[in-house]
Amino acid sequence: ESEVPSCIARKVSQYSCQRKTTLNNYNKKFTDAFEIMAENYEFKENEIFCLEFLRAASLLKYLPFPVTRMKDIQGLPCIGDQVRDVIEQFTSVFGVGVKTSEKWYRMGLRTVEELKADKTLKLSKMQKAGFLYYEDLVSCVSKAEADAVTLIVKNTVSTFLPDALVTITGGFRRGKKMGHDIDFLITNPGPREDDELLHKGLLLYCDIIESTFVEEQLPSRKVDAMDNFQKCFTILKLYQPGIDNSSYNTSKKSDMAEIKDWKAIRVDLVITPFEQYAYALLGWTGSREFGRDLRRYASHERKMILDNHGLYDRRKRIFLKAGSEEEIFAHLGLDYVEPWERNA
Ligand code: CTP
Ligand code: MN
Ligand code: MN
Ligand code: MN
Repeated sequence: ESEVPSCIARKVSQYSCQRKTTLNNYNKKFTDAFEIMAENYEFKENEIFCLEFLRAASLLKYLPFPVTRMKDIQGLPCIGDQVRDVIEQFTSVFGVGVKTSEKWYRMGLRTVEELKADKTLKLSKMQKAGFLYYEDLVSCVSKAEADAVTLIVKNTVSTFLPDALVTITGGFRRGKKMGHDIDFLITNPGPREDDELLHKGLLLYCDIIESTFVEEQLPSRKVDAMDNFQKCFTILKLYQPGIDNSSYNTSKKSDMAEIKDWKAIRVDLVITPFEQYAYALLGWTGSREFGRDLRRYASHERKMILDNHGLYDRRKRIFLKAGSEEEIFAHLGLDYVEPWERNA
């Protein structure tokens, strides 16, 4: 996914005079916030912190991608401890965007504990869930947990849609042993009866985004466009009998503290029409960087527009159908790259 490749990290100079920084800022939300904080520190005559935020802002302006989590800044210069704290404490909470983090930070809240304790904060449903299951959600999802969840999701889906295909995508399809969530693509061949699927059971937290796909609409040209599938960012309750998680919430040993025999796990469910399945699979398998470059290659080298729904040939003015990822690579004139070779 969007890890900074070590080759880039190694090459980034700490001196902005050795970097080429255009007005193309992918991290405006962060850099605006950092500049406000720098100004605050300037007033307080704290030159060190002031400079730290200014240098970090300048570095983020140079980065050719938006920073969405800690991995993105790994190995980069100019990211001091203060800056790292701001990025870390808040990007790690499910449902909390940069704007909100920055607001909370300016309100003087520094840690997740402080945030939890502050009863005056207005939290969205998603943010409340993010805090409620924070400890679980920041710990990674293992391959074994992904396999267990796969069984549950497949079983559940098949009771509603016996013919449906459920495929694990994201990092686990690329062979990763750990992930921050588990991604599934669900499609139902034949008549479309999948609309109701997401509106049923098994979820601790669920935020359904309805499909906004419009037939015949040209693929999006944006590099990081969200697709229009019906999707659901969920938190699933995975029971792990035998694993004693009671240390999680005990303070007094004698207390009949509830033994927590489950773990909250982030799961993304994406529902796709059968005809778009191959494109959705390619898009949702990632990595994010690989997907970006596929789209860049399509438009720059082939005059085609690729997104998670399809591929449009601008010269011939037609949509190219594909029933498999192999066909999509062939349409693009590219050698096939296996999922585990897409960890760019
Ligand atoms: N993706 C997408 N559209 C979105 C969200 C994600 O096409 N709206 C794609 C991205 O290209 C990404 C893949 O789906 O590569 C999976 O997303 P994500 O779960 O964020 O990343 P992973 O690669 O699975 O890594 P992680 O282990 O951190 O989850
Ligand atoms: Mn994932
Ligand atoms: Mn992810
Ligand atoms: Mn995901």
